Amino acid sequence: MINKADVLLGLQWGDEGKGKIVDVLTPNYDIIARFQGGPNAGHTLEFNGIKHVLHTIPSGIFHPTAINVIGNGVVIDPVIFKKEIEALLKLGVDVKSKLLISTRAHLILPSHRLLDAASEAAKGKNKIGSTLKGIGPTYMDKTGRNGLRIGDIETNEFKEKYDTLVEKHKQILSFYNYEYNLQELEPIWFEAIEFLKQLQFSETEHYINSAIKDGKRVLAEGAQGSLLDVDFGSYPFVTSSNTICAGACNGLGIPPNKIGNVIGIFKAYCTRVGSGPFPTELENETGEKIRQIGKEFGSTTGRPRRTGWLDIPALKYAVMINGVTELMMMKADVLSNFENIEVCTHYNYNGKVIDYLPYNIDPSYLKPITVALKGWAEDLTAIDNKSKLPQTLLEYIQFIEKTVEIPISIVSVGPDRTQTIRMK
Ligand code: IMP
Repeated sequence: MINKADVLLGLQWGDEGKGKIVDVLTPNYDIIARFQGGPNAGHTLEFNGIKHVLHTIPSGIFHPTAINVIGNGVVIDPVIFKKEIEALLKLGVDVKSKLLISTRAHLILPSHRLLDAASEAAKGKNKIGSTLKGIGPTYMDKTGRNGLRIGDIETNEFKEKYDTLVEKHKQILSFYNYEYNLQELEPIWFEAIEFLKQLQFSETEHYINSAIKDGKRVLAEGAQGSLLDVDFGSYPFVTSSNTICAGACNGLGIPPNKIGNVIGIFKAYCTRVGSGPFPTELENETGEKIRQIGKEFGSTTGRPRRTGWLDIPALKYAVMINGVTELMMMKADVLSNFENIEVCTHYNYNGKVIDYLPYNIDPSYLKPITVALKGWAEDLTAIDNKSKLPQTLLEYIQFIEKTVEIPISIVSVGPDRTQTIRMK
């Protein structure tokens, strides 16, 4: 049998709980590789009573032997990255030998962050709700062929290239009429660049392809979610990378015929942070109850997340675009104590009932049609076996499996590694 890399990604608007699952699955893999996004992500892992939030580093970093790769598709803010590494070093994690960074990964400059802020401010009420980490401007420079990459750090022209790019950014900032103090931000950025030089820069596309050839088990870890994908998400309220399965090919250099299982992660309900349409949003007490019980506040920005019921047409869309082979449902415990759980199965789209996610999901065109399923009252957080799950939760799971036509292999009932129920 030909060895292939598996891909794990979010099927909603991010924050599905990918970090926890990567951490749970890492013992089955030799290599964990991030393929897109950057410090806009916040992957939360919990074990031995301690919570860890990772932004750029793959969630396999706590495993004693797994190698973690930051692929070419990722954008790196050296300042945030340095802080993340220092926190791991303090915990005794051997980051230097377990982390490889692609020479082709792009750098987020301090001026990219300024541009992000200036662009959002100029958009006013139409703002994207960006995490303001400089993600959009960095990917714009990448596709505009102006960007600085990790591999440039060790060249003699690095500073010159930096200055040229910053000059361009200054001109754009003056167009925005945006006030800033770049001089204040630059010294810590260059200090962080020096710090990065201790780490392993690598042509990771060669490393990963050789590893696959040698039978090593590779898991590609996605960030954000499919509905934030720059092509297939709710554009323009999206992030600036391809968050879908194909992004693992672009962002790591893995050929499409070397992709194996595609693991799709979704929450038992939906959340979204930032602006943009959200068909099943609950702007009422029920939504607030989900937010409070689910602690739905951003792990990167602390912003309250918008909450709503599960959206099956959107889930089916994400399953289709990604070629999902296996589903994992997160945060089932949050839905305990709801008399009824609603699920959106169709939409009313301009007066017509449809069962798929259309181009325009703006609320003035599209309204959700939901069915109510019976909830459960039991606390799930201490349950350790499928046989102990409440019957109505099993019915909820079966309903999703039947409509989405993909099996659910894991149900998560709490943030800790141990609160993970295998359904197979
Ligand atoms: P940006 O990627 O920071 O520019 O943000 C663009 C949109 O994606 C905003 O609505 C953000 O809230 C959202 N977003 C970016 N990263 C994440 C994430 O990791 N989880 C959830 N939403 C995210």
